[in-house]
Amino acid sequence: MTAAIIDGKAFADGLRARLADFVADFVAKAGRKPGLAVVLVGEDPASAVYVRSKGKATEAAGMASFTYRMPADTSQEALLAKVAELNADPAVDGILVQLPLPKGLREDEVIAAIDPDKDVDGFHPINAGRLASGLPGLVPCTPLGSLMLLKDRLGSLSGLDAVVIGRSNIVGKPMAQLLLAESCTVTIAHSRTKNLPEVVKRADIVVAAVGRPEMVKGDWIKPGATVIDVGINRVDAAEPGKTKLVGDVDYAEALEVAGAITPVPGGVGPMTIAVLLRNAVVAAYRREGLEEPAGL
Ligand code: GUN
Repeated sequence: MTAAIIDGKAFADGLRARLADFVADFVAKAGRKPGLAVVLVGEDPASAVYVRSKGKATEAAGMASFTYRMPADTSQEALLAKVAELNADPAVDGILVQLPLPKGLREDEVIAAIDPDKDVDGFHPINAGRLASGLPGLVPCTPLGSLMLLKDRLGSLSGLDAVVIGRSNIVGKPMAQLLLAESCTVTIAHSRTKNLPEVVKRADIVVAAVGRPEMVKGDWIKPGATVIDVGINRVDAAEPGKTKLVGDVDYAEALEVAGAITPVPGGVGPMTIAVLLRNAVVAAYRREGLEEPAGL
């Protein structure tokens, strides 16, 4: 059996097309565009590429994009002052401070300074608490995008065994909370988990978010399971001097066993920016006291 390939790019394109309608509805009701502010500190080239593509995607969705570039030697106080300014700006519905921050800046303190109702990354401890408590909040983009792909593929997830490999605040923990809220039986596995292949083998749903290239092997996977590969790892390609992107799952092996799998690239990756835009539009409706449209 060959697994179905979950086309995250196509799903993300559809989500962005639907978002354009919600944005138009919001503009008609609020008399302004939903606004997303992105703060980039330092010159990391990969981060600069991400930030540029976020800005372009924001504008393509009909939203207002505000990008702030600050030098690598920016002080903690100056960054907190920028966050405070954006918290107070009525045209800004969402604030994203691109991570990682340059050495010397304290990420936790910066995240905690963002207005939780503008925290489109869903990283603020208040939003983590809301998610764990089943309260409305803002949910981290990559796990929410992964959940959308799972529900699109499987419909109800109720009663399914899910294994999340990785326990980061950004992916693993919120992913586990989302799956629990869908009534899955959830296991969070990590670097100290004993007998990881056996643990994974029990799962109807495997979410791999460890950042280790092709770690999850085909014979770890239960036949027919749905595999969501969150990993994006750059490794040497067969051709000398060339590199390629691979996930945390050995894709060629998993393809022979799984029921469905997300490719890398083209799986979870494209969902992250689409859900970021979605979160900003959700924040905009809530901040204006407008009812969120169904399907957003
Ligand atoms: N760096 C890489 N991905 C992300 C993300 O989703 N949010 C933030 N804030 N920084 C990132």
